[in-house]
Amino acid sequence: MIRVFFFVRRYRDAILGNPECFKDKVVLDVGAGSGILSMWAAQAGAKRVIACEFTKMASHAKALVKANGLDRVVEVKESAVETLDLEKGEVDVIVSEWMGYFLLRESMLDSVIYARDNYLKEGGALFPNRAALFFAPASLHAERDLKLAEKADAMADWDAFMSETKHEFGVDVGVLRAPYEVEQDDYYLKQALWMEMRDDMLAAPPACVGIIDLDTCSLAESRGVADAPFKFPVPLDPGQDTGDSTSLQRGCFRSNVRERDAWHASRSPRGMIARPKMSQNEWKTTEIRPF
Ligand SMILES: C[S@@+](CC[C@H](N)C(=O)[O-])C[C@H]1O[C@@H](n2cnc3c(N)ncnc32)[C@H](O)[C@@H]1O
Repeated sequence: MIRVFFFVRRYRDAILGNPECFKDKVVLDVGAGSGILSMWAAQAGAKRVIACEFTKMASHAKALVKANGLDRVVEVKESAVETLDLEKGEVDVIVSEWMGYFLLRESMLDSVIYARDNYLKEGGALFPNRAALFFAPASLHAERDLKLAEKADAMADWDAFMSETKHEFGVDVGVLRAPYEVEQDDYYLKQALWMEMRDDMLAAPPACVGIIDLDTCSLAESRGVADAPFKFPVPLDPGQDTGDSTSLQRGCFRSNVRERDAWHASRSPRGMIARPKMSQNEWKTTEIRPF
């Protein structure tokens, strides 16, 4: 997380900006990684911080905590949060950076829920305490055209190979052209892409398809959002496609509709909330399915 500065700042602001939530409290950092959230909790006045990290990263966190003079407050534990030796109610606050791609994919929300249900005291606080999932269509004509060109190159290579095989070796491999093309479609056109998005790439305002309230959510909710209908008023954009409105509409919804998520945590008087905000860095994960 340390390298994603905009994200780091949100956490820093939420923790250091709410010292009343941390002063003299026992804090659990679920999946502490480098331990940076734990260190902020200590700086915000916590009396004890348990930085729980499953991997060997824990030893680096330990070194960082010591180097920053916080080892009297922050205890780094190399352990799964599920096997910590803590009592129910022993923890006042849970902090965690648990979000995965598209919020829930490979996320560790289930471990946060475990920690909440097993260690957090009644009325304790979670940072963050809310998350939201958004979809928005995007106009990515250049990216689409690049992928189409790459696929066309792959097919041109195949055709050259096919012709050489036939003339040089007397074997016609033409029967494999169609399945080969299906493979190229999968590879070039149906893969998700990761990229930073800008506001001007959006073809319509985002639709919120799910909100997770961490104070109350169940394990089932951590596995995904149920049916969440959404609609986008996508304007036609004749300059950017064939000019034919029917195919253009198809283009908008089938070629250019992209799945994306935005996770934006910020400080508010009520703590840390998730809300959509349209600016480049807050579109965290981008999945693109060109066709
Ligand atoms: C996204 S990283 C958190 C990064 C951290 N906030 C930082 O600043 O470095 C999630 C971390 O949680 C750890 N983790 C995942 N599941 C865990 C579990 N059940 N118990 C403890 N740690 C876990 C992973 O090893 C990973 O280091």
